[in-house]
Amino acid sequence: MHTGDFQSDRIEFLDLARSAGAEIVAVLGGSRSRPDAGLYIGSGKADETAAACAAGEAEVAIFNHDLSPSQERNLEKVLSCRVLSRAGLILDIFAKRARTHEGKLQVELAQLQHLSTRLVRGWTHLERQAGGGIGLAGPGETQLELDRRLVKDRMAHLKKQLEDVRRHRALSRSARKRNETPLVSIVGYTNAGKSTLFNAMTGAQAYAADQLFATLDTTIRKLQLPADQEILLADTVGFIRDLPHGLVAAFRATLEEAREADWLVHVVDASDPEHETRIQQVQAVLKEIEADTLPVLYVFNKIDLVLGEKPRVERDAEGLPARIYLSAQTGDGIDALRQVLSEVIFTDLFEGELAVTPQQGKLRGLLFAAHAVQQEQVDAQGVSHLTLRLPMARYERVCREAGVAMVQPGPALESWEELAPPKPPKRARKSAA
Ligand code: GTP
Repeated sequence: MHTGDFQSDRIEFLDLARSAGAEIVAVLGGSRSRPDAGLYIGSGKADETAAACAAGEAEVAIFNHDLSPSQERNLEKVLSCRVLSRAGLILDIFAKRARTHEGKLQVELAQLQHLSTRLVRGWTHLERQAGGGIGLAGPGETQLELDRRLVKDRMAHLKKQLEDVRRHRALSRSARKRNETPLVSIVGYTNAGKSTLFNAMTGAQAYAADQLFATLDTTIRKLQLPADQEILLADTVGFIRDLPHGLVAAFRATLEEAREADWLVHVVDASDPEHETRIQQVQAVLKEIEADTLPVLYVFNKIDLVLGEKPRVERDAEGLPARIYLSAQTGDGIDALRQVLSEVIFTDLFEGELAVTPQQGKLRGLLFAAHAVQQEQVDAQGVSHLTLRLPMARYERVCREAGVAMVQPGPALESWEELAPPKPPKRARKSAA
């Protein structure tokens, strides 16, 4: 549980449970400072929970925590029903939503990884419940009869298939790089409206539903922008905080799309009172998948639900669009988003490698803060070799703030004083407009 965030954490957890198809018969909270080793909850709370389960004829008790395999088993005995941890719940939602071949492979692998630590004797008391219900989608009770060996073999097989799928992806990616069609990935907290926006932009009918995690697999479409520019737009799986780590790894191929993008469109549900926190949570996941260095355009969606809000564009210090307010559902502001994408993506770029000496820490810091650094390698002398990609206007501002002359990307310099007079910067890409 996150202190200070208790209420939203609880609401999200209930949303997750409903997304998995649960009909909630009782909600219990606890205030234990330290989890019990055997049961996670205290014995008094366990009795109370067992009574609530019996009264509501609950088939499953879902905990908003990560439980150890033995805690799960002990709780199942005490509560006489199936027990799911937060990780198990999310896996179950993924299993129910998986649509494409790759998504299904990824989910099954993640489920088997989760299951493999729980493959012990003592499951027979639950086997009569197999064949439906929450926590039983995908490899369920029947697979529990398999021994570890079979699970291991199956996991190896799945990993190989996933590798093949990834190789295929990498090939199409390199073809795309050659074509230089910019890839824009839509990211955002689950239920922010990514699929709805994707559909509104492309006219495609990606599955949009008022359920968390409606999107599991990345969907990519070509999109025509004003002035005949073309981009690829990708819809991605929604992020949530505390995504089980094994799951992040298993979904790497899906998330990789976001990392390989040239731009991110970060969709935010403007009507969610917690939206600022959600933004931070998505940023944390982006950092985890190393997509935090990419330039981002923030789309504040669902303004039809926010009193007094209108479609509008907020610009940053360089006059570049930073935030756009719209409604993917009503379509208000969608045309403005097309314009804005065209403006930010096809703006003049400064691209290349720049060597920054240890004395130029301020410049380095500003470049990172501007999301301009794609890669950094530090040599034996402490010189940072930065691979940069940023709008020209932003590069100009960063140089001004750092108090240095604008330079062309090139080898390391002894000092910035050597730069008199400054060379004209390289213009990497001209606006197609
Ligand atoms: P995940 O796939 O779970 O990550 O969700 P998502 O971010 O793709 O959200 P999705 O597009 O499925 O939308 C979630 C819900 O919000 C759906 O019920 C949409 O109809 C609704 N929604 C999306 N955009 C808007 C909007 O602009 N206004 C309103 N009122 N509802 C919206």
